[in-house]
Amino acid sequence: MRHLLSPLDLSVEELDNLLDLATDIKDYPDKYKDACKGKKLATLFYEPSTRTRLSFEAAMLNLGGNVLGFSSAASSSASKGESVSDTIRIVSCYADICAMRHPKEGAPMVAASKSSIPVINAGDGGHQHPTQTLTDLMTIRSLKGRLSNLVIGLCGDLKFGRTVHSLINALVRYEGIKFVLISPNELRLPDYIRVDVLEKNGIEYEEIEHLEDAITNLDILYMTRVQRERFFNEEEYIRLKDSYILNAKKMALAPKDMLVLHPLPRVNEISVEVDDDDRAAYFKQVQFGVYVRMALILTLLDLKPDK
Ligand code: NCD
Repeated sequence: MRHLLSPLDLSVEELDNLLDLATDIKDYPDKYKDACKGKKLATLFYEPSTRTRLSFEAAMLNLGGNVLGFSSAASSSASKGESVSDTIRIVSCYADICAMRHPKEGAPMVAASKSSIPVINAGDGGHQHPTQTLTDLMTIRSLKGRLSNLVIGLCGDLKFGRTVHSLINALVRYEGIKFVLISPNELRLPDYIRVDVLEKNGIEYEEIEHLEDAITNLDILYMTRVQRERFFNEEEYIRLKDSYILNAKKMALAPKDMLVLHPLPRVNEISVEVDDDDRAAYFKQVQFGVYVRMALILTLLDLKPDK
């Protein structure tokens, strides 16, 4: 049985196949509308989410399947003290596949070890968020036409931002990738990614503090929210929350074909005036997220459409 706990659980070839499948789903949605008939997806969300949970649910409904689940720890038996291991054993009796989001790093991995159905990590603490990465890769591949030879600026909270950690893990496997890490000193990329992933794979990167210094040379600018819920102290959050605000003035410095991505939700790090810029790809990214999750569900359940 297959799970998706980290982007590295898929080889580059499997990832390419999954993105091809997602593209076919986008182009011929009717072919897939009954592919999961009679199957159930459980969404076990111990932490708030709008896009990820609804996107999983929309994905399963588009495939003709059904969904069940909970959207906060408070509304589940976790509030009575039930462990993740017990919950997954129960859910394995109700559903065919599950997506789990949890504030504790590694919780979906614990679940997978006790589960008799595929477990998808829908975000674990500040650690990983592999399905956001699939979304980001499909967005880049569809709009840029390639996943290699790219200069990618990652901007904002690189310390707690799990989307950034997963994206780096996935992209270092492609040729000619260079990262520009743009963050305040306090929110720099942790060593378990910078040293163990970037340096170990011989990936070119630079760390800088000012967005204006980097924006003129990027193919992709990946903006992130400062992750308030992961801070130990509110004062530090308040001091750092407005470190970067992408606005029309900064966009004027950027290349004409640079794309702006953001996993969303945005707080104020992208000014709404940027939304109308042709280079803003963050709302398109949301739509790609549904197609990749449909492709992932089919892949993990080993299902093919009838036609
Ligand atoms: C991200 C997450 O949950 O890590 N959101 C999402 O899933 N699209 C990013 C964030 O919350 O800032």
